[in-house]
Amino acid sequence: MMNFTVMTLFPDMIKDGLNVSIMGRAIDNKLINVDVVNIRDYSKRKHSKVDDYPYGGGAGMVMQAEPIYDAYTDIINKQKEVNPDIKKPRVIYMTPQGKLFNQTMAKELAQEENIIFLCGHYEGVDERALELIVTDQVSIGDYVLTGGEMPAMIMIDAISRLVPGTLHNDDSAQDESLTDNLLEYPQYTRPASFMGLDVPPILLSGDHAKVDAWRRQQSVLRTFKMRPDLLKDAKITKKEEMMIANLKKGLQ
Ligand code: ADE
Repeated sequence: MMNFTVMTLFPDMIKDGLNVSIMGRAIDNKLINVDVVNIRDYSKRKHSKVDDYPYGGGAGMVMQAEPIYDAYTDIINKQKEVNPDIKKPRVIYMTPQGKLFNQTMAKELAQEENIIFLCGHYEGVDERALELIVTDQVSIGDYVLTGGEMPAMIMIDAISRLVPGTLHNDDSAQDESLTDNLLEYPQYTRPASFMGLDVPPILLSGDHAKVDAWRRQQSVLRTFKMRPDLLKDAKITKKEEMMIANLKKGLQ
């Protein structure tokens, strides 16, 4: 079972966000487990405060190292009590300064058994907390959100759906948009004609080899049109390379 722990100041956001749909089912089916730890519970200050003014001045507040460190230590100790052989977790700090999350990283993290997410708020987290506990810093995109909760949920969703059994049809995690850096081919279902638009006839031909070849070509074409940046890391054939070169020529 895949074990996620989320360290946050907004535990309800995570609980409410993940208890529904496919994620909720995966939790019910014990394919994944999500523990949520409220960092505020580890504050030793009046009113359970967890932030303070930045040394050196400047706007905003900074989350203090101590409650984060204490929460982390407690998580690790409890995990060891339950399972003395548990692997040291990856501890991921969600930050727009981190490495960009993508499908390749999701696949790599799906091999882990134990992942802790640290969600920051305010202007940031005391650097020493990061130095002491964090193994990875990850961003979900080049924009700034108010906290790391939604980014952590996005990562948990993307990673969990790669855990066998989470999706009804395990194939759908294999043959999908963004596998091997190619976008997915267009999909159609009944009716064969809608508002004057017909399903491409090849898909009705029953010839699986032709259908596969058409889908592959559509994937490459679509990637070239929508996300040409992905093509440099995609495995494409010489023939496909030539098709792209010809398309580029046509655009000039
Ligand atoms: N926290 C705030 N913005 C973020 C982002 N883009 N990715 C990850 N964590 C964040």
